[in-house]
Amino acid sequence: TGQALVLGFETSCDETGIGLVRGRTLLSDALATSMAEHERFGGVVPEIASRAHLEAMVPTVHRALADAGVTAGDVDAVAVTSGPGLTGALLVGVAAAKAYALALGVPLYGVNHLAAHVAVDELEHGRLAEPSIAMLVSGGHSSILLVPDLSQDVQELGRTIDDAAGEAFDKVARVLDLPFPGGPPIDREALAGDPRAIAFPRGLTGPRDAAYDFSFSGLKTAVARWVEAQQRDGVPVRVPDVAASFQEAVVDVLTAKAVRACRDHGVDHLVIGGGVAANSRLRAVAQERCDAAGIVLRVPSRRLCTDNGAMVAALGSRLVEAGVTPSDPDLGADSSLPI
Ligand code: KG4
Ligand code: ZN
Repeated sequence: TGQALVLGFETSCDETGIGLVRGRTLLSDALATSMAEHERFGGVVPEIASRAHLEAMVPTVHRALADAGVTAGDVDAVAVTSGPGLTGALLVGVAAAKAYALALGVPLYGVNHLAAHVAVDELEHGRLAEPSIAMLVSGGHSSILLVPDLSQDVQELGRTIDDAAGEAFDKVARVLDLPFPGGPPIDREALAGDPRAIAFPRGLTGPRDAAYDFSFSGLKTAVARWVEAQQRDGVPVRVPDVAASFQEAVVDVLTAKAVRACRDHGVDHLVIGGGVAANSRLRAVAQERCDAAGIVLRVPSRRLCTDNGAMVAALGSRLVEAGVTPSDPDLGADSSLPI
């Protein structure tokens, strides 16, 4: 076909994701996760994640190749998340990607995890409009990006100054005795709750606050205090109402700032990615507010919002297409890789 077959490696957190993409066509997306091993710790334990990546790596690559109906020899380029993320976890992916690239004699592209969360949308909705505004919300990051050119110019307009949005979901779930990761159960509980039951604070939304930065730690604390106060007074906590009110506070701030970023920069395309983009209320409110503001909204399907290998292959494919110079063979991992 002439389009490059790109093999993508994602190991920045707890998912071992291996994806295969040809051009903008998703061929396979194999995933192994160590989530269950972290559950009892209430968060991802780096050492456990690294070891799990090591064990899952080769079988997951084989599964991705088999699912796509190709062999390793068909691969034209290798892409890997080189940061940001957990150093030990990233290193497993980078080492594996380098080994495959070297053995296959194909170019290697180290990519930024955040840019890959944006690129994955192209597999479902076609070429990204440029410029676009991108909002990435997950357990490890919450950022608003201006994307003039996905292959070489992505600028961060703002980010969280404390907890990531997904982290807030995870911590509030803990307070409510819901399982980890907390996003899905809160999303579910909230369906039966009243989002206006409790007025939780909206962080960094004052006139003098940074327009595109987020703060979720005050919200998390406010929820914990509220639940404690109810329990002290012997009032049963209505979990669906707390979940819905907390979720509403997060979604309100996220969507308001994303739409504002579009307006301020004269951009009429917004893409939302990262694990929290799977949230049903976020998807609904973002759609309402974008419709009202004349902004075209793109959100990948839930499966592609969370970490996976296809997103890395998608960005790699973009870099191959743009003729970007491949990474050096001594590519390293950078836990705080800037965009
Ligand atoms: O992108 P991701 O898979 O991994 C990171 O890079 O962090 O995101 C995981 C995060 C977790 O904090 C999880 O609670 C959150 O995404 N999440 C959700 C939902 N599904 C996953 N948050 C809110 N609503 C959801 N439906
Ligand atoms: Zn992520």
